[in-house]
Amino acid sequence: MTVGPEAATDASTSGLISRSHLGIEPFALARPASLDDAAAGVANGAWAHAGGIDVAQRLRNGESAESMVPLGGLKTLSEISLRDGVLFIGAAVTHAQIETDPLVRAHRPDLAAAWRTIGNVRIRATGTIGGNLMSLDVGYDAAPILAAAGAEMIFLEPDGSERRCSVADRAAGRLLVGCEVPLEGHVVYDRSLKPVASVAVGDRRAAIGCAYREIKVIELEAGTDGAAALDALGEPLDDANASAVYRRRVIGVLLRRCRQAHAMGDADAVDPQMPTTPIATTGGQPPAGDANSVGLELHLNGSPFEAAAPVSEMLVETIRTRAGLGGTRVGCDQAVCGACTVLVDGLPTASCSTFAWQAAGREIHTIETANALPDTEPARSLPAVVREVQQAFAKTSAFQCGYCTPGLILTASSLLAHHPDPDRSTMVDWLDSNMCRCTGYLMVIEAVEAAGAALRERADAHPEPAT
Ligand SMILES: Cc1cc2nc3c(=O)[nH]c(=O)nc-3n(C[C@H](O)[C@H](O)[C@H](O)COP(=O)(O)OP(=O)(O)OC[C@H]3O[C@@H](n4cnc5c(N)ncnc54)[C@H](O)[C@@H]3O)c2cc1C
Ligand code: FES
Ligand code: FES
Repeated sequence: MTVGPEAATDASTSGLISRSHLGIEPFALARPASLDDAAAGVANGAWAHAGGIDVAQRLRNGESAESMVPLGGLKTLSEISLRDGVLFIGAAVTHAQIETDPLVRAHRPDLAAAWRTIGNVRIRATGTIGGNLMSLDVGYDAAPILAAAGAEMIFLEPDGSERRCSVADRAAGRLLVGCEVPLEGHVVYDRSLKPVASVAVGDRRAAIGCAYREIKVIELEAGTDGAAALDALGEPLDDANASAVYRRRVIGVLLRRCRQAHAMGDADAVDPQMPTTPIATTGGQPPAGDANSVGLELHLNGSPFEAAAPVSEMLVETIRTRAGLGGTRVGCDQAVCGACTVLVDGLPTASCSTFAWQAAGREIHTIETANALPDTEPARSLPAVVREVQQAFAKTSAFQCGYCTPGLILTASSLLAHHPDPDRSTMVDWLDSNMCRCTGYLMVIEAVEAAGAALRERADAHPEPAT
């Protein structure tokens, strides 16, 4: 099926909120052939676009970008590798990759565990370490953790040379290629009192997030409690989240707690239920097109779907208006509530904050994927899992108004596809960011348990042939 750009102008078929991208100023979409191309673009003022969660938010908040340099498809940026005694993590590596990558889990399980606490399952599937660091947001988690680990950031200058700096010294305007993390050592990170303060303690230094205008790093000396170093940092922020006096106390407590845990060798354990293969990447290059429109070739619910769409169009709009699939809802329009969740390459994704071109060439499943499945559908295909979860929701009455239900069903389906027998805490971890104002979640959890049991029963009855 092929649809042209005019479809999205029919306001009768689309809620105004899902068309919020219409407020985004047009921008030119680059297609960098190499790292040097991307570095030159960023040095000339183009915005780097990695997962695009923050980029979408900034554009919707009224900022404008003349041009955008998508980083998906630039190989080095998506790599995790061992290099001369350090772990290299490319800038476009997603949070989910760090959480699940075998090299990270083998050499820095503390990082894998810390990354698991970032945002929610959708943010981890799409957001990247580079985007997190280069947003320069003092509340984000990557900077304090990596600063405490003694990581070095590597930027590419437009003349092809490399510039290295510590995490605390990073600045916008250049392409971040990645970070090098020492293989030895571990970090204890406490973010339980965000947005007041977050504290990371490594072997030689501690880093503080949220509490000052920038990330603060203190060198730790044996036999001291760090109080003198804290005094030297000056006044913490005094804002609506906390007074400066309260922040100072909280930082002192967190610092002591983290140092004790670090001295005892505590590092968070990696959850054995986590999948062991890397999942979720930022995808490839955007498809061809001009400044105004891109030609999209999507794999939507198992069938090809072609459309031409403006570069600023969000995936939810393409799905609802061009493909006419209204089961994908819009709630917050800010990547927070989960109503717009679709599965991209099997992982929950906020379609309100994903440009349509980011989905090109990837497998997209919406709630309609379970409609009219043929008898020949393999029992454990993603659409079959979605159907099982949908039926379990109906049987356990796991919905009331139903607005959040497609997003919840798709997130639960992805969960069961990755973890056939999840425990309750894993279920809560995956589902609690899909906001439901009606059910209270108990029936939702019961539905997921019932669907998981039914799928396992079917798998036992029809084992997959050995390959
Ligand atoms: C609901 C919600 C919950 C969240 N919770 C958390 C949380 O708990 N902890 C946390 O840390 N964060 C959290 N975030 C923020 C999230 O982690 C970041 O939004 C994400 O990591 C950004 O990555 P991205 O790839 O989408 O960045 P993008 O939006 O692609 O980029 C962000 C910025 O970095 C620049 N940039 C990106 N890559 C590069 C590069 N290689 N070189 C130079 N500049 C670059 C972009 O130009 C842009 O300015 C949350 C966000 C939401 C919406
Ligand atoms: S509408 Fe996309 S997350 Fe709320
Ligand atoms: S069923 Fe109404 S919001 Fe979830």
